[in-house]
Amino acid sequence: MALIITIDGVAASGKSSVARRVAEELRLPFVSSGLLYRAATVLALRESLDLSDGAALLAALEHFSPRLIPDAAGNRVLVGTDDLTGALHTAEVDAHVSQVSQHPPLRRWVREQLRLLPPPFVVEGRDMGSAVFPEAAVKYYLTARPEVRARRRGAERDLSVEQIEWALRERDRQDAAQSAPAEGAVLLDTSDMNLEQVVERILEGVRA
Ligand code: C5P
Repeated sequence: MALIITIDGVAASGKSSVARRVAEELRLPFVSSGLLYRAATVLALRESLDLSDGAALLAALEHFSPRLIPDAAGNRVLVGTDDLTGALHTAEVDAHVSQVSQHPPLRRWVREQLRLLPPPFVVEGRDMGSAVFPEAAVKYYLTARPEVRARRRGAERDLSVEQIEWALRERDRQDAAQSAPAEGAVLLDTSDMNLEQVVERILEGVRA
């Protein structure tokens, strides 16, 4: 069976940087599943949809059919020829994506898209090891203390560290249902580790 490595974890735990570096070391594609939820949120906001209306959100996804392109240089999301990537990581999307991603029909749609991707790959998200790729051979779950995550994210958002920490805690709370570690996942608290140390630890696990 082709190798699938899942790297799940809480918001701003470093999942996407880690997944990207692990994939690079193993010469595999990496897949950032959260981008599809972010794309769903961008489309819903643009269309002024009611974010509590799961059926309307699913209909928009089916209509616009955003595609996740797992480029090694950085995953992208396209709607037709329109590249949504630059609109995915804003404070507004951060604030609404948890509400959008909690609808089961929308989660099923994302799961189906991801299951079409041909392994091998490294995939990161919240429920990759538990719900989407339970058959994965290697599963990790990253955490870090909220203040550490807020500091790391601070470089990417135009907000104070306190505001970011508040937003992260809020997202943790809303994402809790879809963020339980997969059975058999190795838990890794990255608070006191740098990126390369986390990558090295995961590569050791893959080679073991
Ligand atoms: O990983 P990222 O922070 O980009 O994910 C954005 C949001 O998408 C998360 O806060 C969560 O609400 C949702 N998500 C999810 N399941 C995944 C990946 C992301 O529910 N596998």
